[in-house]
Amino acid sequence: MFRKLLPVIAIAALGLAACSSPPAQSSAGSAGGPDVSQGKALFATNCGECHSDDGTGTDEAPNVAGHTAEQVKAQVRQPEGDMKTIGADKLSDADLEKIAAFVVSLPGEEAHPDIKPTEEEMIHLKAAFQAIEDHENMDRDAAITHLDQAAALASGDTAKLYEEMLEAVKAKKAGNARHELKELLGMEAEH
Ligand code: HEC
Repeated sequence: MFRKLLPVIAIAALGLAACSSPPAQSSAGSAGGPDVSQGKALFATNCGECHSDDGTGTDEAPNVAGHTAEQVKAQVRQPEGDMKTIGADKLSDADLEKIAAFVVSLPGEEAHPDIKPTEEEMIHLKAAFQAIEDHENMDRDAAITHLDQAAALASGDTAKLYEEMLEAVKAKKAGNARHELKELLGMEAEH
């Protein structure tokens, strides 16, 4: 019974996706639309302090690109992790919509392959995380050393990801590395 239903559900889901994707794409494509340009300014005012005005992240907070409008709104009103709630008293729903439109217009982050660090790599990743865990009290050099050592142990996509984290720490965007490390160390579900 359940088996017979599945293809029907799959087809229905495909139908839905086919109906809803063209408008979604055209709105994402209009990167210069009024909502997006207003959203950009609103983002800089309300979010830029932590995420940088262009959303690419700082030592404190990660890149925001690669999220849907729903995810952005949920993160602002009911944040996961170390971000504090920004309520409707500080930021209206209408302005939040515009901010979400801006975030959706940003070039998405590449989804990286499923990476499983070895035990030896984990030791360095943990040490790197501890070094940048508290953004007000970071040991940037220690994080760089440990990420370099992890990258030297790894190869291919894994080494590439470690090198990207290292570059983020160097570029004073350690928030990106902290976020990635949390996922690699299994402290946060991937989303
Ligand atoms: C006071 C600093 C601060 C401000 C202001 C702030 N954020 Fe954040 N934000 C964070 C931190 C820190 C995280 C990382 C949370 C974690 O993973 O522990 C985060 C995470 C996020 C994420 C999820 C990133 C991911 O990859 O999972 C999104 C989306 C986001 N913020 C959007 C916003 C938007 C939109 C605003 C403005 C309306 C905003 N933030 C304002 C600190 C801030």
